[in-house]
Amino acid sequence: MNDAMAWPMGHTAPRHHSAAPHLACAAFSPVQQTLLIPLVARALGGALYPGHACGDVQASRLLQTLDIDGQTYLADRATVLNVLWRTRLIRDLAQAFFAAHPDAWGLNLGCGLSHYFQWLDNGSNTWMDADLPEVMALRKKLLPAQPPRLRAATVDLQTADWWQRLRQPRRALAQPLFVLCEGVLMYFQPDEVRAVLQRFAEVAPSGSVLVLDTMARCAVGQARWHASVGHTQAQFHWGIGQMQELTACHPRLQLRQSHSVAPSHGWMGVAMEAMWNPWGQNAPLYGLAELVVQ
Ligand SMILES: C[S@@+](CC[C@H](N)C(=O)[O-])C[C@H]1O[C@@H](n2cnc3c(N)ncnc32)[C@H](O)[C@@H]1O
Repeated sequence: MNDAMAWPMGHTAPRHHSAAPHLACAAFSPVQQTLLIPLVARALGGALYPGHACGDVQASRLLQTLDIDGQTYLADRATVLNVLWRTRLIRDLAQAFFAAHPDAWGLNLGCGLSHYFQWLDNGSNTWMDADLPEVMALRKKLLPAQPPRLRAATVDLQTADWWQRLRQPRRALAQPLFVLCEGVLMYFQPDEVRAVLQRFAEVAPSGSVLVLDTMARCAVGQARWHASVGHTQAQFHWGIGQMQELTACHPRLQLRQSHSVAPSHGWMGVAMEAMWNPWGQNAPLYGLAELVVQ
């Protein structure tokens, strides 16, 4: 879910799409192509769900520049709602973090074409958007960074030296960091996710926060059923049953809070979550987790 989780709350008919990717993303891998799903939801989803609108003027502008007709994506209403829900929650969490740490750095891992700094710039904090080279090249054309407080970096989270590649200056690490990784890790193998969490726990300053979205394990291998991700041929490889799985890889990691999207979908969402999660599993079908480094 992530741009993923319409399933299983949305469409349930299997789809085998061969829809060609948008021209700007033609050379992208299936996972890279998924970046259009949250982009469209943030740009146009507010018309479907005014109460969840996030007012993403940058996403609206990008959609126009890229000449994307978002109607295909909007048909997957559950995913649109999930993206709007998570965007607003992340924005709130980040704003609270920067209120407590006004000069701190934020880091968006696997940023796609999202633009959180439009909401988070407080005049003294710094934000770094990072993604794979192909995505950062497109991003550079469409969303030029404005140094020194809005930065861009190329990173591959599936490599051992991803943290060093970010080349954060010493002053960035002199205080807690706010790190975001949304719509990314469910496409990784479980070992790769563990390596990312472990590295973050080893190197992030005490008090740092990592916000990530999670899917229940029952979604693994089921991306073809997903009304939006199914178009891309990307696959879900990582999901969790227990929230503790997020912190088990390192003693410095603690779960501060877990949020489920289910209540945003009304009683059907809550019932669906109860049904799909076997007894004893406490992870939401789709949700956000706040991890903190002790
Ligand atoms: C569904 S998109 C999410 C984009 C963005 N986080 C958002 O919510 O709009 C998945 C993103 O993960 C990025 N990604 C996939 N594998 C990655 C890797 N190994 N390292 C860094 N980013 C990666 C893709 O390039 C893509 O931008």
